[in-house]
Amino acid sequence: MFVSRCLDVNSHGHLTIGGCDTVELAQQFGTPLYLLDEGEVRRACASYRESIDRYYGGKGLVAYASKALNCKALCRIMQEEGMGLDVVSGGELYTALSVGFPAEKIFFHGNNKTPRELQEALEAGVGQIVVDNLTELELLSELAGGQGRTAEILLRIKPGVDAHTHQFIRTGQIDSKFGFALETGEAMQAVERALALPGVRLKGVHCHIGSQVFDREPFEAAAEIMVQFLADIHDRWGCQLEMLNLGGGFGIKYLSDHNPIPYGQYMEGVSRVVKEVCAQRGIATPFIVMEPGRSIVGAAGITLYTVGSVKTIPGIRTYVSVDGGMTDNPRYILYQSEYEALAANRADQPKDTVVTLAGRCCESGDLVGEGMPLQQVRPGDLVAVLSTGAYNYSMASNYNRVPRPALVLVRDGVPRLAIRRESYEDLVRNDL
Ligand code: LLP
Repeated sequence: MFVSRCLDVNSHGHLTIGGCDTVELAQQFGTPLYLLDEGEVRRACASYRESIDRYYGGKGLVAYASKALNCKALCRIMQEEGMGLDVVSGGELYTALSVGFPAEKIFFHGNNKTPRELQEALEAGVGQIVVDNLTELELLSELAGGQGRTAEILLRIKPGVDAHTHQFIRTGQIDSKFGFALETGEAMQAVERALALPGVRLKGVHCHIGSQVFDREPFEAAAEIMVQFLADIHDRWGCQLEMLNLGGGFGIKYLSDHNPIPYGQYMEGVSRVVKEVCAQRGIATPFIVMEPGRSIVGAAGITLYTVGSVKTIPGIRTYVSVDGGMTDNPRYILYQSEYEALAANRADQPKDTVVTLAGRCCESGDLVGEGMPLQQVRPGDLVAVLSTGAYNYSMASNYNRVPRPALVLVRDGVPRLAIRRESYEDLVRNDL
């Protein structure tokens, strides 16, 4: 019935998540409110882990891409689940380290890491700095050398695979700001340089082809290209790189007609390709890293809003205005992303209207969605927007000085506050 299996409707007709009544959660914690089913997050981690065990003999690691949602509570959960972690800024790294996340299981990404961030990563002993460009490579070598350390690195490669998704979230093709291109020979030159430089140890290669991808073919194509590259490196320089990080990007269900494949199938296809090409080219199979973000937290989350005004423009549309919007979910204004919504306090009633769900910002484009089927709602009703666990809180802003919502974890009927709601004092804390 719902896009996520952690949702249900109870005998009061209220939407539940992780066994908690959303109407009670709204009363207890206020709205707008992010809710995340911890059980669902842990199940997603387990399903990726099991797929590596099953199809690749356990020779791999699932590194949660924390740009999807990063906070202390989630870093702790990832640690407990035995996951690795992808971070892409000093801030994400700091959050992970602040709860004692093991640095050796961290992958530090980014196309323009600052010298300070690189320094922080070195001091923390980050296990994999994923080097994006030659400037970074030289700088890292210098910084590590200066500290008498050796940076463990991967090189970010553009495999030239075109994943069919929104152009802003597509990253594997040659015209991308991320990484070294294979076709131009740039990637092989970077390998040569990395092997020659002091202070860095080339551990492997990385690629990421895009996000919200439903097909398995582009992942298999990228895996094949990357293993061929590992074999080319082996033939040319006589060294066997041990690690292959194939990024994330696996699609999730936002709408009822979305049909993501079970995540294990990506690993099944990818491990088959990796083993085949390794055998053909006579190299050892690498340690594989997968980096899912959205598919770990996306469908486990919802956002609860309170309806303010309902404005019907005859013959045109009905605007239902809620107490959040682009400040807590900028994905409609950025990518025209579609979501499903429902009246959380009347979830047992049919969706018999179609509305535009409008945010509260001083901006006409501040919409959560258009053409959304919804129950008849009145001011004071609760609206839940589904599958908002990924790239919502992490992309939230304080536009119009709107405080960011709280985030509550729910599990087996018990809520737990993970991120406090911002206060007005928080908003002015750094103002002088
Ligand atoms: N690894 C790397 C290097 C990445 O750049 C990304 C996402 C991931 C892993 C995780 O991809 P996922 O499994 O979450 O698809 N803000 C956009 C998504 C940007 C994704 C950026 N990179 C959105 O809201 O759709």
